[in-house]
Amino acid sequence: MTEEMKHDVSNEDASQVPKVEAPPTILTGDRPTGKLHLGHYVGSLRERVRLQNSGEYEKIFIMIADAQALTDNADNPEKVRQNIIEVALDYFSCGIDPEKTTVLIQSQVPQLYELTAYYMNLVTVARVQRNPTVKSEIQMRGFNADVPVGFFTYPISQASDITAFKATTVPVGEDQLPMLEQTREIVRSFNRTYGPVLVEPEALIPSGEAAKRLPGLDGKSKMSKSLNNGIYLSDSPDTIADKIKQMYTDEGHLRIDDPGKVEGNAVFTYLDAFCEDRHFEAYLPEYANLSEMKEHYRRGGLGDVKCKKLLQAVLEETLEPIRARRHEFEADIPGVYQLLEQGCETARAVAAETLDQVKDAMKINYFSDASLIEEQVAAYAKGGER
Ligand code: TRP
Repeated sequence: MTEEMKHDVSNEDASQVPKVEAPPTILTGDRPTGKLHLGHYVGSLRERVRLQNSGEYEKIFIMIADAQALTDNADNPEKVRQNIIEVALDYFSCGIDPEKTTVLIQSQVPQLYELTAYYMNLVTVARVQRNPTVKSEIQMRGFNADVPVGFFTYPISQASDITAFKATTVPVGEDQLPMLEQTREIVRSFNRTYGPVLVEPEALIPSGEAAKRLPGLDGKSKMSKSLNNGIYLSDSPDTIADKIKQMYTDEGHLRIDDPGKVEGNAVFTYLDAFCEDRHFEAYLPEYANLSEMKEHYRRGGLGDVKCKKLLQAVLEETLEPIRARRHEFEADIPGVYQLLEQGCETARAVAAETLDQVKDAMKINYFSDASLIEEQVAAYAKGGER
């Protein structure tokens, strides 16, 4: 067995390690590098609010991962700083309720970095290099050997985020599955080496194609800030109307009578994500539901403008209350910072408890373990030598 294999737990049988039980707890988070858009909403925010209100979870933590954002934005702290409030406003206006959910800022919980330092001993460089998300992110950013060490090791830091709060459930997009796998390996390795302390989390992946990958207005790539193809939760109705007008539909659908394609047509992908039967009664009673409307579009005779008008009405129904709540929170920025500060305080207390357990298990608790000193006193009293 090589040195590397000895530390690399990825292929080991999980059943050998006793599972640590914990009450249902959610942790998830976002990097604060921009305002949140509709892709975030259908892919995660909507689901987080549902989970929050389901009553099935004892504790819920949502992390604004500023330290992780700095791993590849080290030279742009102002961007990260300005986006903390944007992301917080987006959370609270979507219905994240500070009474039920602890919203915290990663950098304000120093315990996470102590955990990261210890977890680093349980993971090999080769293992991080195999992480598909890290691989593609390194490629995307054009890093080679010049990848910052902090960026390279962020999956280990993310394992600290998750385990510090003893999360059982981590709602994330598919791209985060390798992070969850890494976390689970660290948990098993830790528990096997030091004793049962850490909780193995499960990923919770959104269901439905549109929720997984809402395309941008161009209909091709995923909605993203860098591609400038998104509709933001904070966009005004006029901005949204303009964006919908530009939206990609079907190139072959030139005249209303032409048969149209629904697949790959961004307007229909968005309708899939947002439209319910009741919307037809309200805005387009000639159809009972989206399938009927799609059928007409495929046949020919249904124009893009009409489809876009429906989309705009449906989106506005979702976004109007979010926008209104955002305006309320925007009028009390100090209050929002207060909520975040309280969240950080709550989070620090929880993370500190886990860190204490970790350090006990790792035997780095010299001043709180009375038996250590007693044993050594006794040993030295016997013969003066050990
Ligand atoms: N890596 C996540 C992203 O890019 C953000 C994140 C940081 C996160 N820490 C986390 C997600 C912990 C879930 C759990 O979106």
